[in-house]
Amino acid sequence: MATIVSSSSFFSVSLPGRLGNSRRCSVKPNPSPIFIRKFVAKIRASSTAFVETKPSEPSFVENEASTSKNVLACPICYKPLTWIGDSSLSIESAAGSSLQCNTCKKTYSGVGTHFDMTAASGSKDYGELMSPATEFFRMPFMSFIYERGWRQNFVWGGFPGPEKEFELMKGYLKPVLGGNIIDASCGSGLFSRIFAKSGLFSLVVALDYSENMLKQCYEFVQQESNFPKENFLLVRADISRLPFASSSIDAVHAGAAIHCWSSPSTGVAEISRVLRPGGVFVGTTYIVDGPFNLIPFSRLLRQNMMQISGSYTFLSEREIEDLCRACGLVDFKCTRNRGFVMFTATKPSQN
Ligand SMILES: C[S@@+](CC[C@H](N)C(=O)[O-])C[C@H]1O[C@@H](n2cnc3c(N)ncnc32)[C@H](O)[C@@H]1O
Repeated sequence: MATIVSSSSFFSVSLPGRLGNSRRCSVKPNPSPIFIRKFVAKIRASSTAFVETKPSEPSFVENEASTSKNVLACPICYKPLTWIGDSSLSIESAAGSSLQCNTCKKTYSGVGTHFDMTAASGSKDYGELMSPATEFFRMPFMSFIYERGWRQNFVWGGFPGPEKEFELMKGYLKPVLGGNIIDASCGSGLFSRIFAKSGLFSLVVALDYSENMLKQCYEFVQQESNFPKENFLLVRADISRLPFASSSIDAVHAGAAIHCWSSPSTGVAEISRVLRPGGVFVGTTYIVDGPFNLIPFSRLLRQNMMQISGSYTFLSEREIEDLCRACGLVDFKCTRNRGFVMFTATKPSQN
C-alpha cells in the first residue's frame, strides 16, 4: 500500500513556518478514476488545514475528455493527434507508439522512454541550441546528479524540500484535484513521480526539454516496484511550445523552473493557453526581493546579465505577479521562505 499525506499546516501565507502534524490516508496502487474521485472527496471532507489566502469553490474535475489521449496536440498547429500503435496510456506507450498530425502530416515518434514533441523533432540536419540554462540541464552528468545531491542544495536558498513543497502545493491545487496535471520542466521527475503515486490526479504528464532528464525519470520509475505506470507519460517539449490542446489541462506545476526558461513570458503564456477555465498554475522559483532590489540600477544589471548569459535571471514577487496577470491569469497568491517562493495563479472562469 502506498500512502499519501492528506493535509498539513505547513506555512502561513507569505511567512515561513513549520511542518505541522499530518494525517495519513491509504491509496491503492493504480487507482481507477472512480476510486480517485471517492478518495479525493474523502480528503476534501476531512481536510481543514490546506493553506489558502482565499477560500476557493470546491470544483471536482469531471471532465472525462481531459483524462484521455486527446490532451496531446501537435506543437506546430495545436490540432489533435492520431495515436498509432500501443493503445494504452502509460509510460510504456512511448516505446511502441507514434502520434500523427493529420494537418501537418508530421509524425511524433516515441523514442523508447518518451515522446519527442518538440517542433524540431525528426529534423536531420538542424540542431537547436537553446539558452545556456536550458542546455545545462541536457548534459547527462546533470540528469545523473540532479536528485543525487543537486536538488537537495536548494534548501540553502529556502526551498523546503519535495515533501513539504508537495504539501504546500496541494493547498493551491485543491480546486483541481482529480484532474490532469502537467509537471512542466520536471527534471528527472521528482514531483511527477510524487503526483503519480499520490493517486490525486487522473493523468500526469512529466515534461522537460532535456532528453537525459526524461531518461533518468524513466529509470527511476522502472526501479520502483508498484509504481502506477498507467496514466503517466513522459514528453519532451519546449515550455514555449506546449504540445497540448488549448483549454485541456486542469493543472500545471513548474518547480524551480521559471528562472531557467529563456522567455518566462512565452512559457507562462503557453501555460495560460493550455489551462482550462478554472485551471491552476503553481510554480516555485528563487526570488530577488528586499535589499537586493534597493541597489540602484539592480533591474538594469539583471537585464544586462540576461543579455550576456542568454538566460533569464531571477524575478521579484511583483514581477512574477505582473507576468501572470499579463498572460491572462488571475487570483495570484504566494508563499515565501527566504529566497524561495511558491506562487499560484488561475485561468479565469468563463462565467
Ligand atoms: C532546476 S530544474 C527543475 C526540476 C524540477 N521541476 C524540480 O522542481 O526540481 C529545471 C528544469 O527546467 C528544464 N528546462 C529548461 N529550459 C526548458 C525549456 N525551454 N522547456 C522545458 N524545460 C526546460 C531543464 O531541463 C530542467 O530539467
